[in-house]
Amino acid sequence: MAVDARARYWRPPIIRAMSEFLLRPMVAADLPEVLAVQAQCYRPELIESADALASRLALAPTLCWVAAHADAPRRLAAYLLTHPWPRGTLPPLDGLLRHDDPAAGETLLTWFIHDMAVSPAGQGQGLAKRLYAKARQGAMQAGLRCSRLIAVQSAAHWWQGLGYAPVAPAGEAAMKLSRYGEGAVVMGREIGE
Ligand SMILES: CC(C)(COP(=O)(O)OP(=O)(O)OC[C@H]1O[C@@H](n2cnc3c(N)ncnc32)[C@H](O)[C@@H]1OP(=O)(O)O)[C@@H](O)C(=O)NCCC(=O)NCCS
Repeated sequence: MAVDARARYWRPPIIRAMSEFLLRPMVAADLPEVLAVQAQCYRPELIESADALASRLALAPTLCWVAAHADAPRRLAAYLLTHPWPRGTLPPLDGLLRHDDPAAGETLLTWFIHDMAVSPAGQGQGLAKRLYAKARQGAMQAGLRCSRLIAVQSAAHWWQGLGYAPVAPAGEAAMKLSRYGEGAVVMGREIGE
């Protein structure tokens, strides 16, 4: 009797258990866990201090979100830090942002996506897109209509999937970009549509 080779080598598909996550706005008490996720996701030269991240959260608490494990709500699987920022400049990597920054008074503000990070265990489950959708809602409510970000670690392709395209930085912004490492790309899109 002929044996179908496909049948002989067939193996049941591996079904990966999808974890449950709760998405909620970030609070200052989340920062130690945010730092732990950051450490798992970035090259050493891209790691930012707790103070730098805290200053971004303080600037726009409703635009920063986390994904916590449903069975351990203080443990984070992912975070997203975003804030309004003037269209023509880039915030300094690992620098403190201030409420009274003269640039903050500019009228042409963008929704700046500072940092999206999903811990390796949480990747590939759509968490980043869910966090993005939550924060984008807040950005729209705040009247922001144009978004900017700096893609690092080859993430530009992933951001393209969310409608972002490269934007050429000029002047001081180009200088600040170099601090984000080789291959960093400024990207943007309108978010009103
Ligand atoms: C990029 C990142 C935020 C995506 O998070 P995620 O929750 O896994 O994303 P999603 O589940 O929505 O999408 C996963 C898909 O994106 C792809 N992807 C992940 N990282 C990518 C990258 N750097 N470039 C291109 N595609 C990427 C995965 O291969 C997967 O593809 P598939 O759906 O075809 O299997 C996450 O991989 C991450 O935190 N990376 C490390 C930190 C980082 O580089 N952040 C971006 C800084 S700009």
